[in-house]
Amino acid sequence: VKPDSVLLCSVNTAAVPRHELLCIFGTGDLGRSLGQRLLQCGYKVVYGSRRPGSCGPLPPGTQALNHEAAAQHAHLIFICVQREHYDFMEPLAPQLKGKVLVDVSNNLKKNMYTDSNAEYLQRLIPGAHVVKAFNTLSAWALQNGPADANRQVYLCGSNAEAKQVVAEIATKMGFSVLDRGSLSAARELEDFPLQLFPGWRLPIRLTIGLTASFFFYLLLRDVMYSYIVQQKDMSFRIMVSLANKVFPIVSLILLSLCYLPGIIAAFLQLYRGTKYKRFPDWLDRWMLCRKQLGLLALAFASLHVLYTLIISFRYYVRYRLAAHTISQIRENKTSPFDTTMAWRTDTYYSMGIIGFGFYLLLGISSLPSVSNALSWREFSFIQSKLGYITLFFCTFHTYLYGWDRFLYPSTYKWFTPPGYMLSLVVPTVVLLLKLLLLLPCVDRSLTRIRQGWERTDPE
Ligand code: HEM
Repeated sequence: VKPDSVLLCSVNTAAVPRHELLCIFGTGDLGRSLGQRLLQCGYKVVYGSRRPGSCGPLPPGTQALNHEAAAQHAHLIFICVQREHYDFMEPLAPQLKGKVLVDVSNNLKKNMYTDSNAEYLQRLIPGAHVVKAFNTLSAWALQNGPADANRQVYLCGSNAEAKQVVAEIATKMGFSVLDRGSLSAARELEDFPLQLFPGWRLPIRLTIGLTASFFFYLLLRDVMYSYIVQQKDMSFRIMVSLANKVFPIVSLILLSLCYLPGIIAAFLQLYRGTKYKRFPDWLDRWMLCRKQLGLLALAFASLHVLYTLIISFRYYVRYRLAAHTISQIRENKTSPFDTTMAWRTDTYYSMGIIGFGFYLLLGISSLPSVSNALSWREFSFIQSKLGYITLFFCTFHTYLYGWDRFLYPSTYKWFTPPGYMLSLVVPTVVLLLKLLLLLPCVDRSLTRIRQGWERTDPE
């Protein structure tokens, strides 16, 4: 053993086949986790370090050498070092010639440098084959393996053989590999981990916007109106009554917004007479966030169900019920049993329960572990047919809840319609347009267009 190397446990590098001995430059968290996982997968690991004698605890069974010695032993080297320190490799260019260098680095911010880290590394060591990979996984994910972490390893590089070697290692570690092309794609891969919930931004903004708008709208109608017109303090309604209106209203609108882009796309295809023209960008973006919209809608529907469960315990409800009963006793009156009312309320609860059941099924089937077990046909059946059925039940539930209230002028406080009426606009439009698309003549044209047929307009 050289004086500047530390043997943690004997790794007889001469006896190990070259492709099974891997080198890691860097002994930080990522380097250690990666080394541990590689050992578990049957590889031998040697670390390259500035101070091999004092680089802290490394996985047992590995060896720490100086960079030069470590690089000599292995054909493939993982670079688990920050970009600012890459220049230490420049003098090692002769030893690194022809080797595969796997760049796993990330930056703290987008556009910190003019080129990607992997391209910079390739410029420093032109004789090596740089592959960008593993940068979207955390040290934790690497150590625990794909069972409880993200499965996907994105890689890119300009040498096909080098990429193949890295892909084999990633596959052996249990990850699935997605080749993103040449090294020029490295910048895109380095930007991936810097994106914060990219697919969620639009749905979250929309949800917050709708929630805030409906909250203030209902505050005006249910609290301020009573205060100003009737001189009654109904502010306590904010906590449960208002919440139990805002959540289902927003949920119903979000659910219908999951299906509206599909309908717009279908009408656009019918109008253009072809499926080969690109959709506008806004429609593409909208379609891509349908799953997130649906999940937020499900979360809000669940809140509505929970709030509904406590209605009967509420002090306000119990007080009103007791006051009503006492006044009937005092006046020696009994209200007759109203069968229509019983039918109406039972039906609207029942529609809500069935709608919520389908809602849950939709949410469960969108989980990757469930959707992976379904064929494409099964998945699209659940997400499309079941989706419309869910929307129908929830809309019907709300119509029944409204019943004949729209006939009474007292419903329109300050000439404004109640929240539930507003929530019915988009779902009703979506369901009617869907019915239109289901008409046999329209459906036939759309199916032909989707099978590749194109309308040729007469010159
Ligand atoms: C209203 C029950 C599921 C949408 C109501 C109300 C009840 C109720 C009791 C009247 C609340 C009140 O008087 O303040 C249920 C039950 C459900 C269910 C038991 C299932 C277990 C759903 C689902 C949706 C939904 C899945 C769809 C998003 C609505 C809407 C209103 C409403 C929009 C009107 C809110 C308002 O403006 O007052 N529901 N519901 N419900 N529900 Fe549901």
